[in-house]
Formats: sequence, C-alpha cells, structure tokens
Amino acid sequence: MRILVTGGAGYIGSHTCLELLNDGYEVVVIDNLSNSSIEAIKRVEKLTGKNIKFYENDILDTEALLKIFDIENIDAVIHFAGLKAVGESCMMPLQYFKVNVTGTINLLEVMEKYKVKNLVFSSSATVYGDPATVPIKEDFPLSATNPYGRTKLMIEDILRDLYRADKGWNIAILRYFNPIGAHESGEIGEDPNGIPNNLVPYIAKVAMGELKEINVFGDNYDTADGTGIRDFIHVVDLAIGHIKAIERLMKNSGLVTYNLGTGRGYSVLEIIQNYEKACNKKLPYVVVDRRPGDIAVSYADSSKAYEELGWKAVRGIDEMCRDSYNWQYKNPKGYSE
Ligand code: UD1
Repeated sequence: MRILVTGGAGYIGSHTCLELLNDGYEVVVIDNLSNSSIEAIKRVEKLTGKNIKFYENDILDTEALLKIFDIENIDAVIHFAGLKAVGESCMMPLQYFKVNVTGTINLLEVMEKYKVKNLVFSSSATVYGDPATVPIKEDFPLSATNPYGRTKLMIEDILRDLYRADKGWNIAILRYFNPIGAHESGEIGEDPNGIPNNLVPYIAKVAMGELKEINVFGDNYDTADGTGIRDFIHVVDLAIGHIKAIERLMKNSGLVTYNLGTGRGYSVLEIIQNYEKACNKKLPYVVVDRRPGDIAVSYADSSKAYEELGWKAVRGIDEMCRDSYNWQYKNPKGYSE
C-alpha cells in the first residue's frame, strides 16, 4: 500500500512516516519545508533502511498535486500539512485560512479526481474550545477560540459535508491532545522555528541552558496546584494511532472521529518536575500572567479509539520527558547542524 503523507517532514509527520515504513507501507511525502527539514526525511530513511519518495511542493500548488497523483499510485492520504501556531494565526488569519482550508480543499479535489477517497486528517483537541467537563469525549460540542482552531474545525466540517454528499469516502478525523517527546533514537524530534510557543519544547531549551527560565502561564487556575493541566501524549504513540486509522479505513469505515490522548492530565508544574528527573538538573521557572485564550484543564477520553482501533497510548510521562531531552541533547540546534 502506498500512502501520501502531506507535511511528512514535520514533527508528527516524520514520526508517522517512520512507523509506516516499519510496518511495510510505501511512503510518498509532499512538504514545502516551511516549518520542517529535509534532514528529518533522511534520518527516517536511515533509521528504517527504506526510501521515501519526496516532493518539495506546497499543497496550494494544484499542478504539483496532480503530478504526484498521476505518477504515484496513491491508496490513501495522511494529511498533516498546515500552519499550527495559535498566536501567529491571530496575527495573520488569512494566511491560516488559505494554507489550511484552501490547501485541504485543493488536496480533496485532486483526491476526488483520482478516486483516492481514503483520508486521515490531523485535527486537534482545540476543536473542543473550553470544554464544560473532562475527560473530553468525541461527541462534546465543538467551537473555536482562535483562527488556527477555526481552520481545524472548518476542515472537519468540510469533511463531514463531503462524506454526507459521497459515502464513497473513508475519512478518519484524529483529534490530538498535546504531543511531546521524540523517537527513542534521538534522531528525529520537534524542531520549532525560533522561540518555542509550546511548553515542552520551551522546557527543553531551558534544560539545554539556551533559555534562562520557564514562564509558567498562571498559577491561579482551578486545579490542584493552580497551573494548567493537559493530556500530554508521546509522539510515537500518536504516530502509531495513524497506522491504526489507516487499517480501519481499509475496512470501509466511512467517516470516523477519534481522540488521541492518554486519558490522564499533568499540570505544568508536574511536567517541569518530571523533566527535571529526565535531565537531572533543577529547572528555574517564574510564574507570569495567564496566556490569553488558555483553558484550565484538558484531557481525553480515548476509549473510543481503544474499542474501535485497538489503539492505546502506552508510553508514560517518564519516557516522554526522557525522549524529549535525549533529542534536544543530541541535536541542540535541531536539524540545522
Ligand atoms: C497549544 C494550542 C493548541 C494546539 C497545540 C498544539 C494554544 C492556546 N493552544 O495547546 O491549539 O493544538 O498547542 O501543540 O496555544 N505553558 C506555560 N508556559 C509556556 C508554554 C505553555 O506555562 O511557556 C502552559 C500553558 O498555559 C498550558 C500548558 O503549558 O497550560 C500547555 O501549553 P502548550 O504546550 O502551548 O499547549 P496548549 O496550549 O495546550
């Protein structure tokens, strides 16, 4: 089976390519390298001893997509490509709608043309907005609190409408909680542009002495220690979830939606403590104001994925922090060295 992975050079994309290759799938990647590196692809090839057919193209480039579908015999698509920074999306909403929404429509049109109607879509727990209760189940109400989140919700809506119109599609919408960590080899991992926005990549830079201290965004939330609680999930567990989703699509699943999380929340302070164990040093932090738009608590009920996909996250917080630090330690400048 040959899978097209859009955004396959990125953080979750590269880990998914590795799992696909190890499971015997053939992998074709399209990535414009705007927030990723070709080095990730090379390292996945090295780790697996297998080749990836790589196209450095944008999903907004319809001609390029047509060419790929023409040449390659694609059976299914895993669609990661897109912009993903919440703050940036508030400053340049049009860019987010163009790349994420228009890019996805382009891809869907080409898939339709070539009668490739098997798709795994990379969505986010952000589509639950500020949930009334936790753990979060797939049938909770959906809403968006920023343009990035709105693009994910809009794409989900487009996919639901598409499926209503044509039951020939098989679509798995995967809603990720907070992916962290890296492949245990330390060869691939998260390599954000500039100063990281997300908690664990930021902690990794503090652990390396590159940034002075962690800013804890608020300690007056209604939680045990007052800091925000999230469902952190090891990126390798997340990647494996995509393989399970592909297997499900191949059995004519129709449109299905799954939360991918561990079902357990950790607070910001608990993450710092666990990371201190992983890097074996004290990590300085200061409590600052809440970050606008942040919610207090988010964690998944992932039982549906377990029941229907046979998927469950198995890597714990120790492995997440250890693998994050191992990657950062081995690659202090990410892929750019
Ligand atoms: C963020 C996005 C979410 C996106 C996800 C992708 C926002 C509001 N949400 O999730 O839409 O799908 O990334 O990975 O940006 N924190 C600190 N200090 C920091 C950074 C974060 O205390 O320097 C805290 C936050 O307040 C939060 C927790 O750490 O409580 C996790 O934050 P982060 O890693 O940015 O993820 P989310 O905000 O959950």
